[in-house]
Amino acid sequence: MASAAVRDLLQPGCRPVAADGYLDVLGDTDPTGSRPGQRLMVSRALPLIYERLWRPLGGRLLIGASTADERRIALELLEISPGDAVLDVGCGPGNFSRAFAEAAGDGLVVGLDASRTMLAQAAREGGRVQYVRGDAGDLPFPDGSFDAVCCFAALYLIEDPLRAVAEIVRVVAPGGRVALLASVSRGPLPASAADAVVRGLSGVRVFGRDDLTDALRAHGLSDVRRRIAGFAQFVSARRV
Ligand SMILES: C[S@@+](CC[C@H](N)C(=O)[O-])C[C@H]1O[C@@H](n2cnc3c(N)ncnc32)[C@H](O)[C@@H]1O
Repeated sequence: MASAAVRDLLQPGCRPVAADGYLDVLGDTDPTGSRPGQRLMVSRALPLIYERLWRPLGGRLLIGASTADERRIALELLEISPGDAVLDVGCGPGNFSRAFAEAAGDGLVVGLDASRTMLAQAAREGGRVQYVRGDAGDLPFPDGSFDAVCCFAALYLIEDPLRAVAEIVRVVAPGGRVALLASVSRGPLPASAADAVVRGLSGVRVFGRDDLTDALRAHGLSDVRRRIAGFAQFVSARRV
């Protein structure tokens, strides 16, 4: 059940519809892309195995990290305190959102995703998280609504990731933290060539090393840091 707190946090004029354990602000709009990797996220099957099979395997193979390692890194980067408002963008089945809810205590944790099937699975998993079906590129929250915003393993699937980064920065409060986990180009090919091949086949974008750190700096964030692990980068920053 969506609490009044999350309804109150939505942009004025937003008319959400209560769906399968989440609030839907998108209706018939589907901002997810048409390539295979993107369609998987809105399928019925993947959400059922995502948290316990797909994601742990992907984390081990592509990042060299366990689920517990990734949760610990996310919590370190976000510096969540009890009472904080936290947004998890591209939350999938809530596999990180629930850890944020534990850290935020009586604060408000919102998981946002564009996939109905991921959100239905998140709602079935339970936990003190409020779920919203929305677009990362057009977040339905006023400026400065959250003390911490996370976006793990989603930017590379989002059609316009730099638009999503701009939105993430917009909704972080001054002094608040941002944590991103995304792909990074590591092989012999230049990032643009690796991206053309991988994205053309799968829909998964391969970011250059500086794409995300440069974007955060251009938005005026401070303390911008990047840690590379396998084929992924953890990026964090603070809004001034
Ligand atoms: C691989 S899952 C990541 C789940 C979780 N954050 C994690 O780290 O395991 C990526 C999610 O991004 C969501 N997504 C893709 N495009 C989106 C968009 N434009 N707005 C919101 N969510 C989007 C997908 O539906 C999917 O659930």
